[in-house]
Amino acid sequence: MDMGIAGRTALVCAASKGLGRGCAEALAAEGVNLVITARTAETLEATAASIRSKYGVNVQAVACDITTPEGHAAALAACPQPDILVNNAGGPPPGDFRNFTHDMWIKALEANMLTPIELIKRTIDGMIDRGFGRIVNITSSSVKAPIDVLGLSNGARSGLTGFVAGVARKVASTGVTINNLLPGTFDTDRIAVTFEAQAKAQNVSIDEVRARRAEALPAGRFGNPDEFGRTCAFLCSVHAGYIIGQNILIDGGAYPGTY
Ligand SMILES: NC(=O)c1ccc[n+]([C@@H]2O[C@H](COP(=O)([O-])OP(=O)(O)OC[C@H]3O[C@@H](n4cnc5c(N)ncnc54)[C@H](OP(=O)(O)O)[C@@H]3O)[C@@H](O)[C@H]2O)c1
Repeated sequence: MDMGIAGRTALVCAASKGLGRGCAEALAAEGVNLVITARTAETLEATAASIRSKYGVNVQAVACDITTPEGHAAALAACPQPDILVNNAGGPPPGDFRNFTHDMWIKALEANMLTPIELIKRTIDGMIDRGFGRIVNITSSSVKAPIDVLGLSNGARSGLTGFVAGVARKVASTGVTINNLLPGTFDTDRIAVTFEAQAKAQNVSIDEVRARRAEALPAGRFGNPDEFGRTCAFLCSVHAGYIIGQNILIDGGAYPGTY
């Protein structure tokens, strides 16, 4: 299927690895030119070079912490008028909520709520003026079903979800869509951290946690960033213009609800 977005420009945040990279690759495969960000310049440049040579699109790498005002400025200086914005950042650390300090809450809010809102605020009017825009926020299945050790994620991402529910409908008639993608368990560096915390809490090996978690999923396996990215590319396509303000779970069937 032709996604109809070749030649568009996307800002994909936190995209040197994992789910962000999956989205960047899938958009590049559709002919979208990219600006990608991550903090570690070396990994980011290597990802940019790999995407450039694989798909022949323009890829600019901006090494910055996307959760800071300096990071917002650097990303937007390189990509002031994106047609597509994929919001992503690292997830907050796991732990017992009693140990979450005010500073930890502020960091989680900056990363997983306020940064996406700021980047939406600073790019959406250009999209509206041009009559086309796609905004996809990578959140988490934790906004639908909380994960006990991830209180910071449950809380901060729910704040973003509430904001998006309102603004997505406000701009729905302008050709701009905003949706959230909710990953369940994907095999990236990020889940290794979660598994480590669970192994420690349950006093078992990390391999055992991995095996148990995979077995417990209806799909019997973890997701991979490529299939996540392809869903993102579809949401960014011309065919997805009537999908507005949705929270789309990609979780191998883990969420047990009928609706
Ligand atoms: N994997 C899962 O199963 C899963 C499930 C639910 C939710 N999520 C959420 O989805 C998001 C992506 O997860 P992932 O699994 O793809 O993680 P990952 O494999 O660890 O990749 C994270 C990417 O984000 C970049 N990054 C992290 N913090 C950043 C920052 N402050 N500024 C700019 N770039 C930053 C990293 O590069 P640098 O470190 O070099 O900056 C890397 O490119 C996270 O918020 C995670 O909590 C993941």
